[in-house]
Amino acid sequence: MSDVAPPTALSEVQLRFLCQDDIENVKQLCSDWFPIEYPDSWYQDITSNKKFFSLAATFRGGIVGMIVAEIKGRTKVHKEDGDILSSSFPVDTQVAYILSLGVVKEFRKHGIGSLLLDSLKEHISTTAQDHCKAIYLHVLTTNNTAIHFYENRDFRQHHYLPYYYSIRGVLKDGFTYVLYINGGHPPWTILYPFEKANKTQTNTSVEAFPSPHFILFLIFYVLSLSRVKLGSHRAQQRTFKPPIPMKSLCRRV
Ligand SMILES: CC(C)(COP(=O)(O)OP(=O)(O)OC[C@H]1O[C@@H](n2cnc3c(N)ncnc32)[C@H](O)[C@@H]1OP(=O)(O)O)[C@@H](O)C(=O)NCCC(=O)NCCS
Repeated sequence: MSDVAPPTALSEVQLRFLCQDDIENVKQLCSDWFPIEYPDSWYQDITSNKKFFSLAATFRGGIVGMIVAEIKGRTKVHKEDGDILSSSFPVDTQVAYILSLGVVKEFRKHGIGSLLLDSLKEHISTTAQDHCKAIYLHVLTTNNTAIHFYENRDFRQHHYLPYYYSIRGVLKDGFTYVLYINGGHPPWTILYPFEKANKTQTNTSVEAFPSPHFILFLIFYVLSLSRVKLGSHRAQQRTFKPPIPMKSLCRRV
């Protein structure tokens, strides 16, 4: 599909699941979009294994975009991302991993990437419901368009992964990006609640309010501040001596 996309392309886009007949087409698209080579078994898997959410965006019958994701137990996350969720979550908590998201060049900046990502979120909310606490992915540190796309959709950088990719024999760095949903959060650190409070959340399905831990932390913090202030006020009262009234000063002169 190399047509130029009309301005109204999005209104004509349809969504359907990938199937095995799409393999050759998907191989071609992935080689256009990604510098990484996937084995044939990967294409077999994403088009037939039901554990993958593999959705195609089509325009007049041709595939113009796709997203592939896997919703899995938190114990199945990549080793390097083992700390994506706080260990306080039960072992049956789920996460969604985006293996692939791409749109045909001529059809980019028409809202198709957002449509595919929103469809994944919708799928999570109807199937995994509130058991799924995070959506994460890996991206090359040099892929500024994708990084910008994810950051504008509330994904946050979680890890810097040096030499994560091997691209035609050359090692390249990656990032893990994560979007917390349904109250998901990483392990607590001294900075984490502050980092979190600074992040503006626009999507209502995203954790939009401080967690109980953070509220407790704030209460203790404010209480400890007010104790310091009260203490210093009392100290002032004890040592306070009223100044000589102006009138008496005048009389003395
Ligand atoms: C990342 C990628 C999937 C985004 O797909 P896309 O279809 O361009 O995404 P969208 O159109 O939804 O959004 C892209 C931008 O276009 C803007 N846009 C959407 N519709 C638009 C329109 N009609 N006019 C102008 N801009 C528009 C969006 O607001 C968005 O900008 P923002 O991020 O500043 O908000 C795409 O660039 C791509 O395939 N890249 C190559 C593969 C890749 O790197 N994938 C990620 C691997 S981790």
